[in-house]
Amino acid sequence: MKVWFAASEAAPLAKSGGLADVVGSLPKALAARGIDVTVVLPKYDAIPDDIVRGAKLLRRFDVSIGWRLQYCGLMETHVDGIRYLLVDNEHYFKRGYLYGYGEEEAERYAFFSFAVLEALVRCQSEELPDILHCHDWQTGLVPLLLRTRYSHVPALRGVRTLFTIHNLGYQGVFSRGKLQDVLGAGDELFSPGGLEFYGDGSCLKAGLRYADKLTTVSPTYAREIQTPEYGEKLDGLLRERAGDLKGILNGIDLTSYDPETDPHLAVRYRDSLSRKRLNKTALQLEFGLPENEGVPLIGIVSRLVRQKGFDLIGEALPGLMAENVQLFVLGAGEPRVEAMLREAVERYSGRMRVWFGFNEGLARRVYAASDLFLMPSLFEPCGLSQLISLRYLSVPVVRETGGLKDTVQAYNEYTGTGNGFSFGPATAHDLLFTVRRALAFYRDEAVWGRIAANGAVRDYGWDSSAREYEELYQGLVREGRGMG
Ligand code: ADP
Ligand code: GLC
Repeated sequence: MKVWFAASEAAPLAKSGGLADVVGSLPKALAARGIDVTVVLPKYDAIPDDIVRGAKLLRRFDVSIGWRLQYCGLMETHVDGIRYLLVDNEHYFKRGYLYGYGEEEAERYAFFSFAVLEALVRCQSEELPDILHCHDWQTGLVPLLLRTRYSHVPALRGVRTLFTIHNLGYQGVFSRGKLQDVLGAGDELFSPGGLEFYGDGSCLKAGLRYADKLTTVSPTYAREIQTPEYGEKLDGLLRERAGDLKGILNGIDLTSYDPETDPHLAVRYRDSLSRKRLNKTALQLEFGLPENEGVPLIGIVSRLVRQKGFDLIGEALPGLMAENVQLFVLGAGEPRVEAMLREAVERYSGRMRVWFGFNEGLARRVYAASDLFLMPSLFEPCGLSQLISLRYLSVPVVRETGGLKDTVQAYNEYTGTGNGFSFGPATAHDLLFTVRRALAFYRDEAVWGRIAANGAVRDYGWDSSAREYEELYQGLVREGRGMG
C-alpha cells in the first residue's frame, strides 16, 4: 500500500508544534508495518541545511494559482528512512517563518495544495498512492481540488483521501474574493455544501466536506468537536459526517524522546528519580535559579496561546508562587501572553524563569528537569507535551479535555493508580487546588516515585494507533474498489 502525507510541518525538518511530531513519526511507524509512505512538505527556509543539501530535483513544472503561473520544483530526499517531496517556490516559502498572517496565507497554501495535485498528475500509474492523507487546514483544499478541478483525470479516480483534524481552532478562513482569486473559481464552490463559511470560505471546511474519511487525534476530542462548545461552528458538519469520523490517539517517537539516550540532557536516566533530579539542578544552574534539589520545579513547554490555558495560569500565578516552588516556562506565541509572563518573572524573579522562542534542546531539558508539568488547556485535540513529560518522569497536571483526558489518569491515593493530576472546570481555583494536591504528594518520596512509575508503564508510542490507521487505509481501499 502506498500513502502520501500532505502537511505543513514535519520534525525534524520544520516544526511549530505537535503536528510536526506526528508527521515526523507516524510515517516511520507505518513504514514498519510495510506501508510505503511519502511526505509532501513545503520547502521552507527553516529546513536544516544538511537535509536540503541531500535533496535532488525530481521534477519542475508550473502551477496556476488563479491568474498567476508559479514555478514549482519538486525535490526528493530521505529522512529517517522516509521519502520526502519538498515543494520548492522561493516566493512562497523562502521566509523567516513557517506561518504568516492574513490573506497571503490563502495563496501560499493554495499553491502548496495545487502542487500536490500537479505532482500526482505527473506520477506513473505504479507510483500513484492509494491514499492521500491530508493534515489540518493548510491541506484542506487538496481533497476539494481532487474531487472538483481534477475529477476529469482518470488516473486519480482511485486515490482515496483521509483528512486528519489536529486542531479545529485553526481553520484557514479567508474572504471569498481571495479564495476565488487563488482558486480561479466562480461561485460554484461557495455554497454552504462547499467551502462557504459564514460569508467567507474555509479551507478546513473544504477538507471536512470533500475527504472520504476524517480522523482527529483522540477519541475524546472526536466526541467533543461534535458539540457546539468545542465545534468551532463546524459541529453541525461534523455531526453530519459522524459515521466517517474517528478519533485515533497520537503517539510519540520513542526513539527520539528517550531520556536514556537524549543527547540534550545533562544526565541521562530511565527510571531513577535521583538521576532525573540532577537535570533539575543543571537547569537551575544554567538559568541562575537557586540550586535546590528538593524544591519542586513546575515546567511548561508550550505555544503561548489562549488554547493552552494561559488565562488560568495568569490568574492562578500569585497562589501558585505562594507555594514553595520554582517555575520554568518555555514558549513563543501571543504578545499578550508574553507580556503577562514577562511581568510575572519580574515579580517572582528569584524563583521563575521564562525563555521566549522555539528551542528543541531546551524543551527536552525542561521535560527532564521538571517535577510537575503544567498543561491546563481549554481544549486539547491530543497533546504530545504531556506524553513527553510522562516519558521523562515529569508528572502532568492537566485539565480534563480532549487527549489530555484520554492519556492522564488522576492519581488515586486509595488504589495507588494514576499517572498525574487533573481537574475539570476551567477555573484558576481548580487549577490551584489540583497543583496543591500534587505538591502534597510530592513531599512523599515513595508516593511520588509510584506516580512517576505509573506514568512510565505505558509507553505512548505509535504501535496501536499505527495499526488503526492501517485498518482505516485498508477500509478506504476496499471501498474504492467497490466503487470502481
Ligand atoms: P500543540 O501542537 O498544540 O502545540 P502538542 O502538545 O501536541 O501541542 O505539541 C507541542 C510540541 O511542540 C511538543 O513537541 C513540544 O515539546 C513542542 N514545543 C512547544 N513549544 C515549544 C518551544 N517553545 N520550543 C520547543 N519545543 C516546543
Ligand atoms: C495540534 C493540537 C495538539 C495535537 C497536535 C498533533 O497542534 O493542538 O493537541 O497533539 O496537533 O496532533
